[in-house]
Amino acid sequence: MPNVVIVGTQWGDEGKGKIVDILSDKSDIVVRFQGGPNAGHTVVVGEKQTILHQVPSGILHDNKKCVIGNGVVIDPETFVDEINEIKSQGYFTDDSALALSETAHLIMPYHKRIDIARENHKGKNKIGTTGRGIGPAYEDKVSRNGIRVIDIFNDAVFRRKLSENLKEKNFYLENYLNEKGFDGEEIFSKFVALREKIKKYVTNTSLYLYHALKDNRKILFEGAQGTLLDVDHGTYPFVTSSNTAAAQASLGSGLGPKNLDTILGIAKAYTTRVGSGPFPTELEDSTGKFLRDNGGEYGATTGRPRRCGWIDLAVVKHAARINSITHLCLTKMDVLSGLENIKVCTGYTHDGRLLPGFPADFEILEKCSSVYEEVAGWKEDISAATEYAQLPENAQKYIAYIEELTGIPVIMISVGTRRKQVITIKDPFSV
Ligand code: GDP
Ligand code: IMO
Ligand code: MG
Repeated sequence: MPNVVIVGTQWGDEGKGKIVDILSDKSDIVVRFQGGPNAGHTVVVGEKQTILHQVPSGILHDNKKCVIGNGVVIDPETFVDEINEIKSQGYFTDDSALALSETAHLIMPYHKRIDIARENHKGKNKIGTTGRGIGPAYEDKVSRNGIRVIDIFNDAVFRRKLSENLKEKNFYLENYLNEKGFDGEEIFSKFVALREKIKKYVTNTSLYLYHALKDNRKILFEGAQGTLLDVDHGTYPFVTSSNTAAAQASLGSGLGPKNLDTILGIAKAYTTRVGSGPFPTELEDSTGKFLRDNGGEYGATTGRPRRCGWIDLAVVKHAARINSITHLCLTKMDVLSGLENIKVCTGYTHDGRLLPGFPADFEILEKCSSVYEEVAGWKEDISAATEYAQLPENAQKYIAYIEELTGIPVIMISVGTRRKQVITIKDPFSV
């Protein structure tokens, strides 16, 4: 099958970046289709670690095209910084390797200020956003006030849109959020300078991808965030502002849904979450600390410590259903080494009754009890394993148990941060 969609099955940070980097080798084009600089995708090559936020994680490979689709919200200021950083590390030597959709919406300086000020305003009810302006930018897109990449290349259109927006944004910032407003001319000249730096990447990416498919080129879609952060199917309102699910790979790239073949769900061998919101299997004890320390669970974008807990198969099954997941990749299996026993959440009970699916009411989710099965752990260091047979019996049993309960085959297992630290049972491009 030609195309593979990578999606997070939990609350993000499942290790999507590492897997995208590995699979980039087998693909021709890597496409981001939603989210923006809220994403932090870590790729380790040799001794060097690179964290990608807006640029697709295929960029560290030569001769691969990386596409930022129309579904992404792009912050031109940090986008230019990110490109410079990647280039300074010795990658991305050919500018034609990157394409940016002309219809992607822009994150404007006022979006970032509103995001941060609104969170402060909410106090203890805050979402715990990344403060990158994601929510306010998607709001403007949906309310039809957004400024798209193409708009900044037309002075008259850009000036008009900017001034219309600033009337509302400055009023809101100054009178409701007690923040400073913005000067339109300052933003205009800043963006005129920025547009010169991004011009070479801007194109009709939907059309580009359409022709690429006709030429039988293989596409790898790189999801950001995770299914439980999807604005429709996640733990609303503690979610991000885009659809993170696999179907968005179609809408956010401008390719029809029949072009999505293998849907590879990335599941961490345990669960983490950054920011606020319900997390039924969260561990606030020494085991939670063990997972955080052993897994280096600190946010790739904000540096915040991630909340840690047992794997939650109610979550993974929910993700499997929403995304049509065909195969699973389990990451960070090495982090579990040393645990005597490992708990697996198989569902939730509320008022003594087993819930049929993932509850939409987050108060129920907060109050429900997780039902656990306990499996035996393993002591061995598995970080050098490159074949399934090299895994200890209990690690194999853990994987088999996850396959049994989700009904989905695990075809890749990641056992460390590096490219070589992966067990590939089946190549997702040829399943
Ligand atoms: P993403 O947002 O899904 O791309 O994930 P992040 O990059 O935010 O977080 C995953 C973290 O785990 C990064 O620090 C990766 O380098 C690291 N990582 C990825 N896979 C593995 C693995 O199998 N084992 C270990 N120990 N670390 C991993
Ligand atoms: P990757 O792609 C983990 C979380 C934030 C917050 C909520 C809303 O690296 O997996 P936002 O800034 O999007 O409005 O924040 O979503 N969040 C993520 N958590 N990984 C991510 O991306 C995330 N992107 C957003 O912490 O709880
Ligand atoms: Mg991340």
